[in-house]
Amino acid sequence: MASPQDFATIAIRGGRALDSHASSLLFPLYQTGTFVHDAVGVDRDFSYSRVSNPTVDALEKAIAALEGTPHALCFRSGLAAESALFFTLLRPGDHVVLSEMLYGGTIRLFREILEPFGIKASFVDSSDATNVEAAITPQTRLVFIETPANPVLRLTDIAAVTEITRRYGVLLAVDNTFLTPALQRPLELGADISVLSTTKYIDGHNSTVGGSIATNDAALAERLQLIRKTLGSIQAPFEAWLTLQGLRTLPLRLAAHCQNAQTVAEWLEAHPAVARIHYPGLESFPQHELAQCQQSAGGGMISFELDAPYTAAIDVLNSVKLCSRAESLGGVETLITHPASTTHADVPLETRQHLGISEGLIRLSVGLESPVDIIADLNQAFAAAGCCANVEETAHEVR
Ligand SMILES: Cc1ncc(COP(=O)(O)O)c(C=O)c1O
Repeated sequence: MASPQDFATIAIRGGRALDSHASSLLFPLYQTGTFVHDAVGVDRDFSYSRVSNPTVDALEKAIAALEGTPHALCFRSGLAAESALFFTLLRPGDHVVLSEMLYGGTIRLFREILEPFGIKASFVDSSDATNVEAAITPQTRLVFIETPANPVLRLTDIAAVTEITRRYGVLLAVDNTFLTPALQRPLELGADISVLSTTKYIDGHNSTVGGSIATNDAALAERLQLIRKTLGSIQAPFEAWLTLQGLRTLPLRLAAHCQNAQTVAEWLEAHPAVARIHYPGLESFPQHELAQCQQSAGGGMISFELDAPYTAAIDVLNSVKLCSRAESLGGVETLITHPASTTHADVPLETRQHLGISEGLIRLSVGLESPVDIIADLNQAFAAAGCCANVEETAHEVR
């Protein structure tokens, strides 16, 4: 992995080229649907923005540099990237092994679209790599894991799963949305494909929705491009341009997200109203050791449960004043969500219970406000929800 200094340079300079027209420092926004040909039959680099676009191309080169690979493609959303990947690699009768703990939209994509098309899926607890191996069949084409996984941050050992997928000649894709290549390097750990919802930390400002796929496999990248053109799911130029701007501060932002999250997690862990906390940066996190060797920091996401009826969690969400009650993650604002009624609402109750996504689970995407203010907001919300007897005292301790 590049050193933090090198990575800071890559985020700002990697894959960037000056625009050939005016050498503008920021790559321009090519807000156009089509491009003019010099003559019939004379090919140009760009012809139609559903196929490719210079601004999208610039973002792809920047993301490829971050991922440390020659090939990256950008899509209209993270789910559009995943859909293109699955349509590229899978045919009816094929089988996929997936982490059972996944972003709810990925599960819905399988349940609602891919399984009815005859693609079989096994959802396993991939935090134990032997479960992945046990689920592989002669029809398995792909293993798809998310680590840390939404929302209780369960980790999967990427190197251990790589060892298995290579032995069986199966491809491994990793959804690295929660950490990005700034904190975790799936391709260097042996995965074949890295998937990102760029909506989150890559953009970092809640300005866009987007996704990317990176791979070292040139033939796979070419096939993905064909599928993307056919599905019509390429990223839009303006979104690509905004994402390019956000991307430049990714390492700086993530370092601050991690620092704030660690501070908030330690406060939550010590709080008497908190029954359970999930944060890979805490020594008490059951997979802390794996986090330390696979990730370069704990990340910006925390989830926790209160020692109170689940309605208290709803009250806390309804009482926050600084944190925003909003889905998504990875932006500069702290967002608070209730996974059971939002990101995982479509996941059946028994499955949620099996995964530890209780009705009282609260997820925080820790932003870049002062951690003192984030903690003070949670503190007053706990008090308003009846979870904490003495607001003044605890708030004083925080400051
Ligand atoms: C881990 C993860 N992967 C994929 C997605 C889908 O990304 P998008 O919302 O950009 O389609 C999300 C969205 O929240 C996510 O959290």
